[in-house]
Amino acid sequence: MGLPELLFIGALTLGCVFARLNSRQPSGYTPHRIVGGADVPPGEHVPYQVSLQYKARAGQMHFCGGSIVAPNRILTAAHCCQGLNVSRMSVVAGIRGLNERGSRSQVLTYTIHPKYQELVTSDLAVLSIDPALKLNNVSITSIEYQSKKKEFVGGGVPVTLTGWGLRLPVPFPFLDEVNYPNVLQRMSYHTISNTECKNAGMESVTDTEICARGPFRGACSGDSGGPLVMQTENGPRQVGIVSYGLVVCGLYISPDVYTRVSTFSEWIGSQLES
Ligand SMILES: *[C@@H]1O[C@H](CO)[C@@H](O)[C@H](O)[C@H]1NC(C)=O
Ligand SMILES: *[C@@H]1O[C@H](CO)[C@@H](O)[C@H](O)[C@H]1NC(C)=O
Repeated sequence: MGLPELLFIGALTLGCVFARLNSRQPSGYTPHRIVGGADVPPGEHVPYQVSLQYKARAGQMHFCGGSIVAPNRILTAAHCCQGLNVSRMSVVAGIRGLNERGSRSQVLTYTIHPKYQELVTSDLAVLSIDPALKLNNVSITSIEYQSKKKEFVGGGVPVTLTGWGLRLPVPFPFLDEVNYPNVLQRMSYHTISNTECKNAGMESVTDTEICARGPFRGACSGDSGGPLVMQTENGPRQVGIVSYGLVVCGLYISPDVYTRVSTFSEWIGSQLES
């Protein structure tokens, strides 16, 4: 399957975000969570998850996810930043609902990986934010992204994705409230090997990426840039950054493609120091 059928999960969202400004709500529509997430229960935290927000005329709007890798650094996807006006970008940490206040920091700069190519490779960026987040071990913490042996995660590994992305498999600009959940969604599935991923139609996948899929679940618009995490004996570790998928999300036939964090751990580390 060719490139036209693939879409960035976040670019789509921005289009949607701007489309929703003058949209109307129909009534009597019951959303189905076809992409398979469930609300993170009240009182529970996904402390490394942040919401990337863009200041539009109608206010602050969630458009991508990200993860805390240091008190003043956020890891996200390159396609969540490219071309955006940095002075309108902020991140909110310590929230479960998008309507909560949390802790907001302004984005000072974003650094896109120098080898980034749209829908090909290196879809990651590091944001520098101010003020630095106060890590409290409960609702705001950083996530580990390095493994000692630079482990190349293969297929069949249980992984968890969190985000505020679409709950429907395609975006309906006129159904904003049901499409975009207010409460953080969490979903678990498994990685697949890159060979399986190619065989499932993602022909341009390289070793710099990692794929996951599960029945009727998957990443969708607005999840972009967010963290895919595996459990290790030392706690959670980020293995992927939501990059791209099919326009129609969450169908079993279409794997989700993530930037493989272990490939870039040195580059990410270098961005924490600068
Ligand atoms: C970026 O946004 C700021 C604040 O809204 C605005 O003053 C500035 O003109 C914008 N810059 C560009 C290049 O659009
Ligand atoms: C968080 O935990 C670390 C080590 O586990 C500890 O050094 C630090 O003081 C704790 N911070 C808070 C705010 O509890």
